[in-house]
Amino acid sequence: MKILSIETSCDETSVAIVEDGRKILTNRIYSQIDIHQKYGGVVPEIASRNHVTKLPYIIDEALAESHLSLAEMDAIAVTNGPGLVGALLIGLSTAKAMAYSLGKPLIGVHHIEGHIAANFLQYPELEPPFLTLVVSGGHSHLVLVEDYQTFKVLGRTIDDAAGEAFDKISRVLGLGYPGGPAIDAAAKNGNPEAIPFPRVMLDKTQYDFSFSGLKSAVLNYLNGKKMKNEAVNPDDVAASFQLAVIEVLVSKTIACANSIGMKTICMAGGVSCNSLLRKMMGQAATEAGMTLYYPDPILCTDNAAMIGSMAYYNYINGEESDLSLNGIPGLKIGTRQ
Ligand code: KG4
Ligand code: ZN
Repeated sequence: MKILSIETSCDETSVAIVEDGRKILTNRIYSQIDIHQKYGGVVPEIASRNHVTKLPYIIDEALAESHLSLAEMDAIAVTNGPGLVGALLIGLSTAKAMAYSLGKPLIGVHHIEGHIAANFLQYPELEPPFLTLVVSGGHSHLVLVEDYQTFKVLGRTIDDAAGEAFDKISRVLGLGYPGGPAIDAAAKNGNPEAIPFPRVMLDKTQYDFSFSGLKSAVLNYLNGKKMKNEAVNPDDVAASFQLAVIEVLVSKTIACANSIGMKTICMAGGVSCNSLLRKMMGQAATEAGMTLYYPDPILCTDNAAMIGSMAYYNYINGEESDLSLNGIPGLKIGTRQ
């Protein structure tokens, strides 16, 4: 089954064709990062306008690269939430028009479930159940994937997402946008033990995260230095901040997996590109006798192939959408409408 999938929930315009949920035939991604960089973050209206102008060309590119025609597609899939509503609606109206005019099924996909499914594209042997740490610009969740359609959120951020914290701290350090890769790079030159930023663990038996206290601690540190006219080493701040975030993510994930007796862990979302997270989660999983999976960076950040993978599992489990499918900015994991 070949599914053409569209992802426009934030600032990447992406179109993929995925076969049977596991094989990428093409995965075209047009990133708007350069456009939003000068504003220090994604400007929703600008993102929507660029989706409008770029999407038709990206669809053509995907078909040309895979040497396939629209008639050969078995279904059209699209992210319908969560995300920026204007941005979501561009992908949705395009997907609906295509599905209707071609007489093919339309499949709505939850963006976070798509991030999780990115692992299916890379690891043919991977099957539920497993625990996933989903860490992106908008989300930090610990999700138990019981089967392809059953997701249980065991922990979530109570304030900022991990990626949001990376982006904010990068901005105040003047390292640019997006902050994750910038902090990751700067941290390689810094001392992670230089500044003892807090590790916010909340209740040890709960698997929720909180990053706003850490963010404030970094801002207070920088303000204190400024008031005393003392120099700041941005690489040390980046390294110390990064270690504080990653230690919490790793220890909560391993504790959560232990609490449910789960030996398979996946990571997903943009922050799972982080080199320290990959290293420390890898070490912790090995020590705990767990198997860890995470996709290549290109499948961790937003892309349509992950949407095509999840769409396949929605479809074979009887989850076809109709033309009333709407863009839902706060769509809850495990739901469609
Ligand atoms: O999954 P994603 O592309 O978009 C959302 O669904 O939000 O994630 C983007 C986020 C941004 O906050 C970016 O700073 C972060 O992922 N990110 C990273 C790294 N690469 C991207 N965070 C930490 N380290 C990285 N290497
Ligand atoms: Zn995402």
